[in-house]
Amino acid sequence: MEVMRLCWTSVFLLFLLLQDGDAEDKPRKISMRIVEEPSNYGYGGNQANSGVRTLTPRVKASNVSGPVPLQQLAGRCYSKVLGNYKYKFCPFHNVTQYEQSLRWNPYSGILGVWQEWEIENNTFSSMVMPEGDDCGSKRRQVKVYFRCGNKNQVMNVTEPTTCNYMLEFKTPLVCHPHVMLVYPTLSEDLQSQWDQVEQELYEEQITQKGYNKRLRRIFEAAGYQLSQEKQEELKAAVVSQDKTKDGDFNSLQQCNAEYKKLREEVETLKEQIKTQEDRFQEADEVVLEDHAMVDYDLMDDYL
Ligand SMILES: *[C@@H]1O[C@H](CO)[C@@H](O)[C@H](O)[C@H]1NC(C)=O
Ligand SMILES: *[C@@H]1O[C@H](CO)[C@@H](O)[C@H](O)[C@H]1NC(C)=O
Ligand SMILES: *[C@@H]1O[C@H](CO)[C@@H](O)[C@H](O)[C@H]1NC(C)=O
Ligand SMILES: *[C@@H]1O[C@H](CO)[C@@H](O)[C@H](O)[C@H]1NC(C)=O
Repeated sequence: MEVMRLCWTSVFLLFLLLQDGDAEDKPRKISMRIVEEPSNYGYGGNQANSGVRTLTPRVKASNVSGPVPLQQLAGRCYSKVLGNYKYKFCPFHNVTQYEQSLRWNPYSGILGVWQEWEIENNTFSSMVMPEGDDCGSKRRQVKVYFRCGNKNQVMNVTEPTTCNYMLEFKTPLVCHPHVMLVYPTLSEDLQSQWDQVEQELYEEQITQKGYNKRLRRIFEAAGYQLSQEKQEELKAAVVSQDKTKDGDFNSLQQCNAEYKKLREEVETLKEQIKTQEDRFQEADEVVLEDHAMVDYDLMDDYL
């Protein structure tokens, strides 16, 4: 615990140092110049450079399942910038969000991790991705809806209720009217189980509630939805993660990794400041040669 605290302190001190970066000798010039330089903080979704926070999912993604044509999307990712955020959707994996900002540590986070299909009326209606980053007392969650379109692309991301996101994805893969139907994707065995459940409902041997339960079992057996057991595992994984307070590192290793990254960032920034200072000196000398009289205040506004 003591070691963790020490590590934490180092990271915090580095953090202060970073924030202090433009409090050195020539604050105004330097900070303005750095902003002008191309910076990849927050852009390109580059994990190593997307700020201090590493995105660590709290749960593992489920296996790929569902409509066969959609399965070819596994392993790819699709990004879209909407407002101040870039959203990245990796089908059958996760949805993440990156703030588009030049701040040195723009916000980035996980909106959800692939778990199961939502099934309504014999149709795969959405890809459910719960267990995203904390959002008050809740967790972020995304449901992904597939729409027919002429190319694969994220169309829109909205937040119908707080922390619950809805992502619409257009793809030519779902344009066939039957592609999202569940029954045809099932094994013969599960199909005949379903036939039987239909029969029992028809003969009023089971209630609608019993019918829904039995169907759920079939979807679980097919791997489309999480079994009771899996749901409990998921909860357990989530609870053990909860033991570490907000913002704490889960391990010394993680803390060390963060420390190393921050240290590298400090070095890079120092390097940049130095380069800029050198360039300023050269620029100042040239200007002084060209014009004997220089209005320094005016120059400051341009630099
Ligand atoms: C999201 O999924 C992609 C694709 O598998 C993976 O490369 C990436 O590391 C995942 N991101 C997070 C935060 O788990
Ligand atoms: C995922 O697939 C692997 C290998 O095919 C299997 O061992 C595992 O049980 C599957 N997980 C789930 C949740 O179905
Ligand atoms: C269920 O799906 C069928 C076709 O797949 C459609 O005709 C029917 O209107 C749907 N029912 C509901 C309640 O959504
Ligand atoms: C996204 O959805 C919001 C809310 O429904 C809507 O106002 C906005 O126009 C949509 N944007 C796009 C690009 O479709």
